[in-house]
Amino acid sequence: MNSSELRSKYLNFFKKNGHAIIPSASLIPQGDSTTLFNTAGMQPLVPYLLGKPHPAGAKRLVDVQKCVRTGDIDEVGDDTHLTFFEMLGNWSLGDYWKKESIIWSFEFLTKELNIPMERLAVSCFKGDENAPKDEESSEIWKSLGIAEDRIAFLPKEDNWWGPVGATGPCGPDTEIFYWKSNTIPVPKSFDGSDKNWVEIWNNVFMQYVKDSNGNYVVAEQKNVDTGMGLERTVAILNGFENVYETDLFEPILKLVPDYVDEKKKRIIADHAKASVFLIADGIVPSNKDQGYILRRLLRRMIVHMRSFGNDVFTPIMKVMEIYKGVYDFDEQYILSIVKQEDDKFEKTLAAGLEEFNKGTDPFILFTTYGFPIELTLELAKEKNIKIDLDDFNRKLSEHQKLSQTASAGMFKGGLADHDPKTVKLHTAHHLLLAALQELFGKQVKQRGSNINQERLRIDFSFDRKITPEEINTLENIVNGKIKEGLAVVKREMPLEEAQKIGAEMEFGVKYSDTVSVYFIEDKDGNPVSREFCGGPHVTNTSELGHFKITKEEASSQGVRRIKAILT
Ligand code: SER
Repeated sequence: MNSSELRSKYLNFFKKNGHAIIPSASLIPQGDSTTLFNTAGMQPLVPYLLGKPHPAGAKRLVDVQKCVRTGDIDEVGDDTHLTFFEMLGNWSLGDYWKKESIIWSFEFLTKELNIPMERLAVSCFKGDENAPKDEESSEIWKSLGIAEDRIAFLPKEDNWWGPVGATGPCGPDTEIFYWKSNTIPVPKSFDGSDKNWVEIWNNVFMQYVKDSNGNYVVAEQKNVDTGMGLERTVAILNGFENVYETDLFEPILKLVPDYVDEKKKRIIADHAKASVFLIADGIVPSNKDQGYILRRLLRRMIVHMRSFGNDVFTPIMKVMEIYKGVYDFDEQYILSIVKQEDDKFEKTLAAGLEEFNKGTDPFILFTTYGFPIELTLELAKEKNIKIDLDDFNRKLSEHQKLSQTASAGMFKGGLADHDPKTVKLHTAHHLLLAALQELFGKQVKQRGSNINQERLRIDFSFDRKITPEEINTLENIVNGKIKEGLAVVKREMPLEEAQKIGAEMEFGVKYSDTVSVYFIEDKDGNPVSREFCGGPHVTNTSELGHFKITKEEASSQGVRRIKAILT
């Protein structure tokens, strides 16, 4: 089944079940928004989920929504992360509830798409202080024949959706997983950590509205919000390993010669697609907000295309060809914007090349001249010059940490610096660095960081895998500090004094004579954390909730990466 067939099957199935088909909204949120892009099908529908009557005059809606997620832009090229994708979604605006929603999902998957039930598993919300365990959903799944072993009850970080920004509709969800491997038999019980179980559909039961005080208030109107990734579903229906083999990507990948690295091919395809759709929705490359994302996507694609001597227009044209008849494009306009950016980039490259020849530091080339490190490496190779990539990466991480608040706003598709969730994670970040140093010693230094509303990410110098016991200890140290309810205090002080007390500082940054340092101290006045930092932070660690590490992995040679959340 190809993508067009899946789109129409989905829309028709829900139409048959009383849903009004509505067109995709623009990728750019209209009106007041806390995000740069629409990241889910429900996002343009928030006013209606909050009770405003929908102009289609219906309480049941179905659509295919264009989405862009930029939170993990650097991970594009693996099997799962995309910037642009389409989401199939159906909604009940205060109309049907769990039973209909689950039954229709099940029927669509097993009858319309002919997916054997043996390959399905589900997860439901486990319950916590905000909402009870979702027995109702699991009972419905059981009544449809899903075995008890194939139903997992999971906590908020897995089975809860929303709100999109700091406030808004949200609730427990039930997620549907598909066993993608051909090893038979499919395991009897569901294990979410097995990568062969891929999530295909998410049904959210929006019973709550999170308010600005962080409270989950029971919603006046109970809604259902579901989302199924189009690309991923086409891939599994065809038994493909990943989305790049589908009709939505394969024609773009084919434009690139075989010898080019697979990851590069994928980045080209993904970025070409996102660029076309962003330009079609009115974005032009710039140094701010959506325009900056577009610039970054286009330039990265240009660099990769040039690396094997091709121009940027072929993948752009191919994207428009793939989506012909589904979305309208003003081809000439889109090509003209791409050309303008290509020309501008060309000039940047020319200036950068001149600097390169003068022997300018790769990091300066990158920050001041916008000259990509990939190009520096390539030119250096031709000329037999050695580039210290570690040095570059180190400077880059420090630089990124500096502009972290700005980029947190830009790349995660979320609020800029002052969003309360981001602020909390920022404080948790300081506590985690302190915990790492407590456990492993002061020589552990931060090498990079990125924070958004959902999670924090820290890169730090350490040369081996961290054991599950150590992860546990780190969590306990941080949660201990949260429980103690310690004040977080900002102090302006002379640079010299800040250095004397050993406050953590940024590598390679020139500080002014007076600096600001954030202090967290225990009840006896002993230092827990002292970091040079612009903030903002919470005022007391008790505001953070519960700290949990979700991932530990290698980042580069001698650098580990941890991702963590607050629940
Ligand atoms: N909003 C939910 C999601 O994005 C369901 O559509 O997964």
